[in-house]
Amino acid sequence: MRGNKPHNSVLGLIDWVKGLDDVSIKYVLELGVFSGESTILFAAAFPGVVAVDLWDDIQNMDVITATLDDMREAEQVFRSRMKERKNIIQMRCETVTAIRLLGHAAGLIYVDATHAFSTVKQELNEIKIARLGHRSQYVTAGHDWRHPGVKRAARQHFRREPEFVGTDGSWGYHIQPRPTNGYSDEQPKQSV
Ligand SMILES: C[S@@+](CC[C@H](N)C(=O)[O-])C[C@H]1O[C@@H](n2cnc3c(N)ncnc32)[C@H](O)[C@@H]1O
Repeated sequence: MRGNKPHNSVLGLIDWVKGLDDVSIKYVLELGVFSGESTILFAAAFPGVVAVDLWDDIQNMDVITATLDDMREAEQVFRSRMKERKNIIQMRCETVTAIRLLGHAAGLIYVDATHAFSTVKQELNEIKIARLGHRSQYVTAGHDWRHPGVKRAARQHFRREPEFVGTDGSWGYHIQPRPTNGYSDEQPKQSV
């Protein structure tokens, strides 16, 4: 799906995230894993990755058309990649379920499941809800910035452009929760 050189892979995003001194990452929550190409790169760069996918025949995907056999094969490749690293947890569930369970403490959340406007919008909203009352800085990122559904959902949700867009289509927003009012966590910190 993508190469592993910085200019055409998720490595550009990883470098950008690592340069953010105020974001501490205990684990990455990756939403949409397929065969784990990006997972293995996250696992090499950060202490842990929770890799979320249904590995099932998903009807509403508008970018990837994969058969059940394709998905089974992708999962096998993912599982063999997992053996290379001991810091990956496989989580077979809906993206929204994973966000509700683990979104509050992930330092980096990587959105790369359906790419449809409505589902990306829902995922971003669930992330925002999961972070309510949590003060730590984090990154919401994803793949396929060129995809209109992704771009529209992110622009509408964050009301600004991403701080990072890589040549592989990865994008990232550095989220700095405001100290007191809890819910307004999607705006950048204002300089004084
Ligand atoms: C584009 S692929 C992920 C590619 C991977 N991040 C990479 O860069 O190599 C999208 C994956 O999202 C999964 N997916 C789609 N909708 C999902 C949902 N609602 N819950 C969980 N996984 C989903 C699909 O099964 C598919 O494997």
